[in-house]
Amino acid sequence: MKHLGILLSGRGSNFLAIADAIDRGQIEDAEISIVISNRAEAAGIVAARARGLATHVVEARGRKRAEQDAEIVACLRQHDVDLVCLAGYMRLLSPEFVAAYPQAILNIHPSLLPAFPGLDAQAQALQYGVAVTGCTVHFVDEQLDHGVIVLQRAVPVLDSDDEASLSARILEQEHVAYPEAIALVLSGNYNTVDRRYIARASQNATPIEEAK
Ligand code: GRF
Repeated sequence: MKHLGILLSGRGSNFLAIADAIDRGQIEDAEISIVISNRAEAAGIVAARARGLATHVVEARGRKRAEQDAEIVACLRQHDVDLVCLAGYMRLLSPEFVAAYPQAILNIHPSLLPAFPGLDAQAQALQYGVAVTGCTVHFVDEQLDHGVIVLQRAVPVLDSDDEASLSARILEQEHVAYPEAIALVLSGNYNTVDRRYIARASQNATPIEEAK
């Protein structure tokens, strides 16, 4: 059984998509061991409690990031977490946090990285005038929205779009992409070569020659 730790700061719709995917068996042999928020009033942490999951709020005010992150890492370790999933967690992780979970922290970002990192990615895409944007699930490294990309889903930008309508269509794809990426990473059937995530054939898959 693999243990997931979720970090969030707000609404928590990606967290709920992950929880639902576990419940329906799309992410096999996994459970959410802890949901951590840096905001006590985050809707996501309220929803986690309502689902009967273990939750923890880290006090952010007036604390250095390293101190806050040490508390988070201790909490993740206490809950035996194998894979950390950032789901709308609005703080950059300290180098110590990243080093504590090498290639075991995922994030979702609402653009096709490396386009439009940082805040308001959907508004950035509209403003730039791209015809296609989307979402990216990637491993977290020390730089913002930068680590190895696990998967991306594209979303066309429509002439009629405003920030709200585009964000809503991207969010639908986020809810598909994040569970899919988590299942891929937990399966362990991949290698990373430089910046490239390369899927390996699953051990359970029928080899092509035999399938003929
Ligand atoms: C999502 O758009 C995600 O891509 C970004 O923050 C937002 C979180 O939304 N990192 P939610 O809290 O999961 O609903």
